Amino acid sequence: MAGRIPREFIDDMIARSDIVEVIDSRVRLKKAGRNYQACCPFHNEKSPSFTVSQDKQFYHCFGCGAHGNVISFLMEYDRLEFPEAIEELANYHSIEVPREENSAPAPTAQQKQQIQDDYELMEKAAKFFAQQLKIHGEKDKAVNYLKGRGLSGDIVKAFGIGYAPSEWDGMLRAFGTNPQAQQQLLDLKLITENDNRRRFDFFRDRIMFPIRDKRGRVVGFGGRVLEDGGPKYLNSPETRIFHKGHELYGFYQAKQAHRNLARVMIVEGYMDVVALAQFGIDYAVASLGTATTAEHIQMLFRATNEIICCYDGDRAGREAAWRALENALPYLKDGVEMKFLFLPDGEDPDTLVRQIGKDAFEAKLQNESMPLSRFFFENLLQRHHVSSTEGKAALKAQAMPLIEQIVGDNQRAILTSDLSAHMGEHHRHKLERDIAKANSHGNVKKVDMSTLNKSTMSPVRMMLRLLLDSPALAKQCASADPAFLAETNIAGISLLNEVFAFCKNHPQANTAQVLEEFRHHPQSSHLAKLLNTDFAEQYPVKVFQDSFTRLLDWHLKSRMSELMSISRLRNLTSEEKQEFNLLVKEQK
Ligand code: UTP
Ligand code: MN
Repeated sequence: MAGRIPREFIDDMIARSDIVEVIDSRVRLKKAGRNYQACCPFHNEKSPSFTVSQDKQFYHCFGCGAHGNVISFLMEYDRLEFPEAIEELANYHSIEVPREENSAPAPTAQQKQQIQDDYELMEKAAKFFAQQLKIHGEKDKAVNYLKGRGLSGDIVKAFGIGYAPSEWDGMLRAFGTNPQAQQQLLDLKLITENDNRRRFDFFRDRIMFPIRDKRGRVVGFGGRVLEDGGPKYLNSPETRIFHKGHELYGFYQAKQAHRNLARVMIVEGYMDVVALAQFGIDYAVASLGTATTAEHIQMLFRATNEIICCYDGDRAGREAAWRALENALPYLKDGVEMKFLFLPDGEDPDTLVRQIGKDAFEAKLQNESMPLSRFFFENLLQRHHVSSTEGKAALKAQAMPLIEQIVGDNQRAILTSDLSAHMGEHHRHKLERDIAKANSHGNVKKVDMSTLNKSTMSPVRMMLRLLLDSPALAKQCASADPAFLAETNIAGISLLNEVFAFCKNHPQANTAQVLEEFRHHPQSSHLAKLLNTDFAEQYPVKVFQDSFTRLLDWHLKSRMSELMSISRLRNLTSEEKQEFNLLVKEQK
C-alpha cells in the first residue's frame, strides 16, 4: 500500500484546480448565467441539466443527482480511485504527489510480481479442481453428488465448480515442487501445516467453488463436503489477495451476463447462486459465509439501482437482513432501491427455483418483496411498543440515528414521515410548519424561488447550507454555536456541529474544501445535496442567527410538549417540574 496523501496536499490540489477547466476538457461546457452547463455525462439526456459552479468549485446534475467537487468528477468520469484522481490533478499541474512516511510504502516491483503470481496460482488451482471432476479415480462420487443436486454440466462449467481429491497431497504434489512454491501454497492457504510441520492439502474430498473477484480473478475457494453432518463448508481463510468483506460470490458472473444490471439479488449460499443461474436468474450473489458488509453494498450500488435481499424467513435470516439494511443506509441515495424477500421456513432459493421455475420466482420477487421502509419499521416495532410514551421514545431513539444516515432526501423523508406516523407526532410537524411560516413572512426579501426554498428548509439545513456557501460564517456567528444543542435529537444536529466546528477552525476554506473534509463522512452526501438548489442569501449572518434561534425555540417547545404529555400519564418528578417552569419562563 502506498503511503497516505497528506490532507494539506489534497486541499492544495483543490485550491489550484479550476473545476470548469477540468470538466470542460472532457465535457464541453457552455456558460449560462453565473454557472456553466452541459448535457450530463452521467446519464442520457437531451437538454442540459448538468451545472458547474465556478464560485463553489462544484458540479451538480438536476437530472440524475450526480454531484461533487473536482476530485469526485475525475473519480466518476475517468473511473478513478480517490488517490488516482489526486495523481491525475497533480500530473495536470506537473507536481509530484507527496506520501506520508510512516504509513506503508508503495508496493515494490517484486511485490507486484508476487501478487501477479498469486492470481496465476489460484487460477491453476481452480483448473486443477475442475479437472479432477474428469480424471480422478473417485470422480463418479463427486459427479453423482452434483447431479443429485440437480446441477447441469453447463452450469458446473460456467462457475468452474470442481472437486478436491480426498488424498492429503493432491495439491501439494501438483504445485508444491520446490520450497518456494510450497511457501506460496501456504500463503494462499491452499495447503496447511500441522504442529509437526507436516504439510498437506487444505481442501480434501470437497466440491469446490472458486470465488472470483469483480475482475474475474480467482481469489479464494468455498469447499462443500459431499455428505452432510458436521460443518458443510470450509472457506479459504483471508490471504494477501482474499478479503471476504470485499468479495461476493457470483458477482463477476452476473456482470458478465449483463452489461447493465437492472437488479441484483443477494442470497445466502453458493448453491443458491448457482441454481438460480442455471434457471436463468443470473443476477444473484452471495456473501462468503459472512454478513453483508457496507463494502458489499457499495460495490453493488455502483453496478445496479436495485438490490433484493432474499433470505430465509427464520430468525437468523431476518437478523442477517437487518445487518444488511444497517450497512446499506449510508448508500441509499435517491433513485436506488433495496428490497427484502423472506422465504418460507425450510426453503432456500435453490430448492424454490427448482420447484417453481424462473417466472414464478421472479413474480415472487416482484410481488412479495417488501420495501426497505416496511422491513425497517416491522423490525423496530417488534422491539418497541409504541403504546407507551417510553416505547415511543425508545423507538425514536433507535430509528433517528439510522434514518439520518440515509443520503437520499426522498428516501429519508419517507422514513421520517413513517416514523412520525408511528409516534403520533403530528403536533411536532405542525409546529415546524408554523415556525417556517412565521419566518417566511415579515422578512424584507421579495418572494422569489429562493425564499420558496427557504420556507421549506429546516433550520438545520439552512445553517448547513449557509456554512457551505460561506464557511467564514462560523467565525462571524460564533455565538450561534449549534454545540448548545448537541445533546438533543434534532435531525442532523451532529453533522451541523461537525461542519460548524470545522468552518470555525478554517475560516479561509472554500466550499469545495469543506466538502472534501467530509468526503468520507457517513452523511457527506447530505452536504452535496444541500448545494443543489440555486440559492443566494443576501443577509447570511442574520439568517444564520435567526435559524439558530428558531432551532433553540423549537427544541424548547418540543421539550415542553414532551413534558406535558408525560404529565398526562403520570406525575412529573420534581426535576421535571422545575425544568418545565424554566421552559415556560424562557418562552415569554
Ligand atoms: P447454506 O447452508 O444455506 O448453504 O449456507 P447452501 O449454499 O445453501 O448449501 P447447500 O444447499 O446446503 O449445499 C449459506 C452459506 O453460508 C456459508 C456458505 O457460504 C454457504 O453457502 N457456510 C455455511 C459456511 O461458510 N460454512 C458452513 O458450515 C455453512
Ligand atoms: Mn441450500
